[in-house]
This record gives sequence, C-alpha cells and structure tokens, in this order.
Amino acid sequence: GTGKFFVGGNWKCNGTKDSISKLVTELNSAKLEDDVDIVVAPPFVYIDQVKSSLTDRIEISAQNAWVGKGGAFTGEISVEQLKDIGCKWVIHGHSERRHVIGEDSQFIGKKSAYALTQGLKVIACIGEKLEEREAGKTFDVCYEQLKAFADNMPSWDDVVIAYEPVWAIGTGKVASPQQAQEVHVAVREWLSKNVSAEVASQTRIIYGGSVNGGNSAELAKQEDIDGFLVGGASLKGPEFASICNSVT
Ligand code: G3H
Repeated sequence: GTGKFFVGGNWKCNGTKDSISKLVTELNSAKLEDDVDIVVAPPFVYIDQVKSSLTDRIEISAQNAWVGKGGAFTGEISVEQLKDIGCKWVIHGHSERRHVIGEDSQFIGKKSAYALTQGLKVIACIGEKLEEREAGKTFDVCYEQLKAFADNMPSWDDVVIAYEPVWAIGTGKVASPQQAQEVHVAVREWLSKNVSAEVASQTRIIYGGSVNGGNSAELAKQEDIDGFLVGGASLKGPEFASICNSVT
C-alpha cells in the first residue's frame, strides 16, 4: 500500500441524536490500531454533536460543501462553516451526488478545488455504473472523473481518492479484491501519466462499496488498496472498528 492506511465512515443521511450518541460511545471505546487514519462523516446537523463527544483519534468529514464562499445560497453549507465547527475533510464526487442529485464532474472538481484552497482535505470519489462496466468503459469513466479533479485542483497533497463502483454501493455486491486492485492500478497509472510520478506513488487510493467486517481483510491485502470508504457498515461501531483494524 501507499502511505498510511485510511478508513472513512460515510454515515450518509442516517441517524438521530440517540443513535449517533450510541455510535459515538461505541467508537470511543473501540480498540483501534495506531497506523490507520480514521475519519467519519456524519450528516451536517449532527457534526457539532459528534465533534463534542467523539475521541480526537477520529477526524470529522462533511459529506458535501458549497463551491465557494458562503452568502446567499439557500440550503448550502460553506467550507468556512465546516472548518469553524471542526471538520478536517469533505467528501466530493460521491456517486449519490453525481447520479441521484445530478452533480457533474466539473462542478465536483470546482468544489474540491475550493475546499483545498481553504484548507479542507478532500475524499475524491470516482466510479463506474454497472452498464458502464458491462460496456467495457470502467477505465474511461474513472479517467474522465479523475481529469475533472486534476484540471481544477491546485494540488493532490491533501486528497484521498475513493474508488467506488456504483454497482457495489449499498448492494452487498462487493468488488472482488482483483476487480478493485485492477482499477486502483489503472488510477495510479493515470496519475503517473497525467499528474506526476510522485503524486501517483503518494496518493492513497481507497475502495468503497459493500465493505464489511467479513470482506475487508482480503481487500486490504491488495497492493494498491490503501484503505476503505465504508457506508452501511460504518453505522455499527464494532464492525467499523474491525474494518479499521484490517490494516496490514
Ligand atoms: O461512501 C460509501 C459508499 O457509498 C459505500 O457504501 O458501504 O453502504 O456500500 P456501502
């Protein structure tokens, strides 16, 4: 793997004050390996609750952020506000925002660029849909999404790439270790050719899509899988901890 193992828990649009208080208690008492960066992404409205109750061992990410400075943008949350309440990260390019909400690659690239220039780190998500995989377009789709990040972002220093095949997200159909490894290698080669050899060798590429306590260890053994972005299984403290501890 490349750099320190990284595991993110994306809670998506789930939870209540009570369920999140229980999850935080579980995470606070979990035994976590030292050599892994751990980040959780609560819904915006619970970030403050999580920040004030969760161990500092785990950093906090937002699930989205506005593309520029705050102001008259009804319903949006600015990068400045996220930093103000203690967020260190933001997720951009998640498939649910691309395909359910309709964000395009350029907008995602611009949002990532703004976050980075303001000092928020970015979990940059890419991944193909089932029909794209079946049409043999997996690499092309990932490259187009990567290019929009590369064209906009000032640097890759504070970026983790999450490869999340859409067909594996929330479906229970995890990519095989070989399927994930193959795309991770292609992403690294793309970075080497289009950004720099240094960025290719230093940027962590994590996998997301139906990762759970039972499959994380096999995936983590792959040379180019540097961690995970976990959805459903991140809502269970002990299971999320065991995924974090699958660092090899
Ligand atoms: O951001 C997380 C991914 O969308 C994976 O979600 O683990 O529920 O499949 P999942």
